[in-house]
Amino acid sequence: MKRVYFLLAFSALGLNAYGQKTIDQKVAELLSKMTLEEKVGQMVQYSGFEYATGPQKSNSAAVLEEIKKGKVGSMLNVAGSEETRSFQKLAMQSRLKIPLLFGQDVIHGYRTTFPVNLGQAASWDLGMIEKSERIAATEAAAYGIHWTFAPMVDIARDPRWGRVMEGSGEDTYLGTKIGLARIKGFQGRGLGSLDAVMACAKHFAAYGAAVGGRDYNSVDMSLRQLNETYLPPFKAAAEAGVATFMNSFNDINGIPATANKYIQRDLLKGKWNYKGFVVSDWGSIGEMVPHGYAKDANEAGERAIQGGSDMDMESRVYMTELPKLVKEGKVDPKLVDDAAGRILTKKFEMGLFDDPYRFSNEKRQKEQTDNLENRKFGREFGSKSIVLLKNQGNILPLSKTTKTVALIGPFGKETVANHGFWSVAFKDDSQRIVSQFDGIKNQLDKNSTLLYAKGCNVDDQDKTQFAEAIETAKKADVVIMTLGEGHAMSGEAKSRSNIGFTGVQEDLLKEIAKTGKPIILMVNAGRPLIFNWASDNIPTIVYTWWLGTEAGNSIADVLFGTVNPGGKLPMSFPRTEGQIPVYYNHYNTGRPAKNNTDRNYVSAYIDLDNDPKYPFGYGLSYTDFKYSDMVLSSTSLTGNQTLNISVTVSNTGKYDGEEVVQLYIRDLFGKVVRPVKELKGFQKVLIKKGESKKVDFKLTPEDLKFFDDELKFDWEGGEFDIMIGTDSQHVQTKRINWTK
Ligand code: GLC
Repeated sequence: MKRVYFLLAFSALGLNAYGQKTIDQKVAELLSKMTLEEKVGQMVQYSGFEYATGPQKSNSAAVLEEIKKGKVGSMLNVAGSEETRSFQKLAMQSRLKIPLLFGQDVIHGYRTTFPVNLGQAASWDLGMIEKSERIAATEAAAYGIHWTFAPMVDIARDPRWGRVMEGSGEDTYLGTKIGLARIKGFQGRGLGSLDAVMACAKHFAAYGAAVGGRDYNSVDMSLRQLNETYLPPFKAAAEAGVATFMNSFNDINGIPATANKYIQRDLLKGKWNYKGFVVSDWGSIGEMVPHGYAKDANEAGERAIQGGSDMDMESRVYMTELPKLVKEGKVDPKLVDDAAGRILTKKFEMGLFDDPYRFSNEKRQKEQTDNLENRKFGREFGSKSIVLLKNQGNILPLSKTTKTVALIGPFGKETVANHGFWSVAFKDDSQRIVSQFDGIKNQLDKNSTLLYAKGCNVDDQDKTQFAEAIETAKKADVVIMTLGEGHAMSGEAKSRSNIGFTGVQEDLLKEIAKTGKPIILMVNAGRPLIFNWASDNIPTIVYTWWLGTEAGNSIADVLFGTVNPGGKLPMSFPRTEGQIPVYYNHYNTGRPAKNNTDRNYVSAYIDLDNDPKYPFGYGLSYTDFKYSDMVLSSTSLTGNQTLNISVTVSNTGKYDGEEVVQLYIRDLFGKVVRPVKELKGFQKVLIKKGESKKVDFKLTPEDLKFFDDELKFDWEGGEFDIMIGTDSQHVQTKRINWTK
């Protein structure tokens, strides 16, 4: 009993069980010493001067002066033990010596880059995704970085939006699981570990639902849809202890996310009880003026702090307006204390007050400069992200002794392009990144010949290189075409109204096809592309995304069969732009099409088949998998029971292989309409050729819950279809009844 009294007494004094000051106590004491300007300074973030990841560059001299005066809380795009140390030294000249936080977009790897995130999602391998972020965090922290602006957990159903490349696709369940794996990887053993970085759930919220897939465009939807589809990955991130949030550029139902009390205060800091801090996106506080939501910077500052934005990235509004707003009584100083307090708390948790230079360490940076283990993992992760779309006639896997192979297309000898968008550029990248040509060359038999022809440029109308490419193809036994979109044609501010192969690439493919040579098409992209002619006329197609530092080796491992591809698409691939948005978990409507070609007074286009070109969850293997014996523990359940589901998957082909077994449900009737399918589980299983594996799943009423028209999150009894299969279209179904 005495111990309880001690703990209570200690707690009242702001002490922990060991009699040491708690971080809350330290923050409170520090805040009590700070001036208003110094508190606001903690809420200011500027970009470094070498490059900008937004519309304007910082005025370096002015920023350096402000750091020395304690008027800057964080810098982004500053990295390297030497550079971070030099900036930190300036902060140590300030009156209270409050250290800076260094943030960076470590989105899919750092020194070692991994597949673009949509490609990683195609692996459906949560363990590899988590490990990739663990490696990224270790490398970034070794370079003095405290904080990554990742994971991006925006659900997106529109491939015209270039930022689908940094997310996990169209499904809330998969996107939530992947987001959690990323946060776990980044934050590792916990903030303060020298190999952990603060993660950042972004972009809060619904940025992926921009009208027309046009970046920064408006978002307008029911609160029910917002809560059902777009918010769950953020709620899960908050509950998992993600260190920070970043809000989004878009307005949501007429109110910019940056000042949106509903999401930032009512939900995030209120209902979800979130204790981290929210950083604005680049300049988004100031952008409330062009939004037409604030008449000037002063009103933008007022609305942003009222709306729950704690740190101002690069808009300078907080620095210039917040002290005035407080002094004029327009903003409660408690809001500034709360925001600055949240930021200071993270700096204490990162151990920066104990040693501001603890992450700026030359030795650790050197160890992480070219870690071969990390590259080896990157190579494996790359091959696991590749999706086999077609393999008619089983041209793949290719024999390593194929006499003459021709690699044709604008990406074959590219190096830096394999980084994809959102990669930090290093001076030696072109020597470090394995090109597709080199990867294939590394594995082709020494008596074989690998020819190369660029054939065309990425995005122009020049056909002068066609002749050479055709001649090259004619000399080969097999032609590997490498086509797609430029590596910087997906990413931020890269929305495309036409998402086909760019330039004259498809014309080149048609010319090469006329040679009659067997063709393997590799598609390089950060998003789903539309390539119907190729899909209908080329026998073998692999989707290779942008695979990072070891790209060429990852690709060759799959082409030559060292790795049997097992990737599955995390987004539906539309047949035309006119079909967008097309996604698997749509509602049934009152007039659902009966099949892919039904157009008779049903919800369909008169000029297009109804299904996507390639469905969510789709991907082939070099081997064959057969599903049988789907067994349910019951077809009639009541209340809080558990439904056990099992299926047997047999590998009836010639290769060992991994299969992503997918579990979907359909709630047949509800007080609001329900999707025709909802992913509720998946397991990636390795099955050796000739063997079978029983795969088990469990469902409880928690898995059946949804938001109704009054935003109540609950389940309803009734009939459900339980579906298991190899993708969202090819499933076997059993019906059950579950009474509440
Ligand atoms: C950009 C992006 C955001 C990124 C930030 C810092 O505009 O929207 O995702 O983290 O600015 O680079």
